[in-house]
Amino acid sequence: MRLETERLILRKLRKSDCSDIVEGVGEYDVAKRTANVPYPYAPSDGLAYINKSLKNWGKTSYAFAIELKSEKKLIGIMGLEAVNVFAGTATTGSWINKKYWRQGYITEAKIAINDFAFDTLKLRRLNSTVNTDNVASNATQKKMGYVHEGVMRKAARSLATHKLHDLNLYGLLKEDWKKVRKGLVAK
Ligand SMILES: CC(C)(COP(=O)(O)OP(=O)(O)OC[C@H]1O[C@@H](n2cnc3c(N)ncnc32)[C@H](O)[C@@H]1OP(=O)(O)O)[C@@H](O)C(=O)NCCC(=O)NCCS
Repeated sequence: MRLETERLILRKLRKSDCSDIVEGVGEYDVAKRTANVPYPYAPSDGLAYINKSLKNWGKTSYAFAIELKSEKKLIGIMGLEAVNVFAGTATTGSWINKKYWRQGYITEAKIAINDFAFDTLKLRRLNSTVNTDNVASNATQKKMGYVHEGVMRKAARSLATHKLHDLNLYGLLKEDWKKVRKGLVAK
């Protein structure tokens, strides 16, 4: 199973993605904004992540490689985690290699993956939590129609910085998505 957009291929991870993952998420500015990425990030961390993702693919999660067609390179990952088809829910999370920020790639990937979540998996709600001080990611949630539902105080400790973070809690219902979906365009 893979999804395709104008500039991207969204597909299952491969062992050969390891060096691109280490390059992308091994960057401190990326690692420090996520909850579960250690810093420094070793190739063995990348391989362990790939193996776990392949084992869970299609069961409890879908960790999509975001491959840039023009460079045949993994430039990020977007995951649907904790997929619960009975409840109709999943949790989303993502990162993009810093060299590729602000070019609309997360918007482009999210349009395809949210459509997959709501139309193919028939989910009805996506959850997301974001550090309150993560400007780019909070802006992305709002752009994509996620509704801010509260703040979870001191709810996460970053593996990269070991600092505690307050988390903004967001939810996107299928009906929210259908409303914003029409107006969204990737750059
Ligand atoms: C958050 C992240 C995934 C965004 O990826 P991206 O491909 O650069 O995002 P896009 O170019 O598609 O931008 C989407 C929207 O996010 C917002 N945004 C992105 N970067 C921003 C920044 N530096 N400042 C303010 N808003 C920003 C804008 O609203 C933008 O839409 P616009 O360009 O139409 O104004 C990327 O910054 C990243 O990987 N950050 C580090 C890891 C991380 O924070 N992951 C999320 C953890 S919850």
